Amino acid sequence: MKLIRIDKKRKFLISKLHSVHTDKGTFPEEEISQNYGQTIQSNKGIKAHILYPTLEDIIKKLDRKTQILFPKELAMLPFLMDLRIGSTVVECGTGSGSASIFFSNMIGPTGKLLSFERRFSFINIAKQNLKKFSQFNNYHLINADIKEKFPIQDEIADAVFIDVPEPFAMVEAVYKVLKPGKSVVFLVPTTTQIIELLETLKTKKFVATRILEILHREWNPNPKALRPTDRMIAHTAFLVQTFKII
Ligand SMILES: C[S@@+](CC[C@H](N)C(=O)[O-])C[C@H]1O[C@@H](n2cnc3c(N)ncnc32)[C@H](O)[C@@H]1O
Repeated sequence: MKLIRIDKKRKFLISKLHSVHTDKGTFPEEEISQNYGQTIQSNKGIKAHILYPTLEDIIKKLDRKTQILFPKELAMLPFLMDLRIGSTVVECGTGSGSASIFFSNMIGPTGKLLSFERRFSFINIAKQNLKKFSQFNNYHLINADIKEKFPIQDEIADAVFIDVPEPFAMVEAVYKVLKPGKSVVFLVPTTTQIIELLETLKTKKFVATRILEILHREWNPNPKALRPTDRMIAHTAFLVQTFKII
């Protein structure tokens, strides 16, 4: 897989060799076939570079039918969920699979991702995305509408991640599936949802609850005029981390 990068806004992910047509001209197949690190030219004389795509590039370019997670939130999850090679992660809902791709790549060949989604059509999209972009065959996508319980063994999860519109409705199921002492992270877009989640968490034994908002500001890498870019992604969602005790 190659990333053809003209500039910040024009990046093309290539998995099979073919010409690339852009508003800056066409990069013919012979140019695209050059090695990583090479500089190539379009028929209009515009330059591009051939780079290895990062997981950030891949996730931003995913085929999607749902809102996906932004890399800035994903990047914090290994810390909040204590993700390790070999971890068993339970996720609800799978959506387009951006978080699933991230988890699958983080937990390695001995890890296990059990990802639940109630819409079958989304499972198919996520499966295609995982097939293309996960290095490991360590994921199981399960079509189920989760209510009070995940349809798997209790206390199997080293970590749980919840990204659904009604996170408070998942608290009971999360408590059952999580190993004691381990953490769950809820991705929650609004403060009103957080209030309802906090009230529901009180009905179970969860402790050390934290609410995080991840701010990410890019700067122009111009040594003669070093300053932040004009625009930034402002609010996306909150991360709520909490731990199960018994
Ligand atoms: C915002 S999307 C998740 C996006 C996903 N995290 C990603 O990175 O692509 C929320 C998903 O949760 C699913 N969902 C909502 N409630 C659910 C439930 N009770 N059980 C299973 N899936 C559910 C929805 O169908 C939807 O696909």
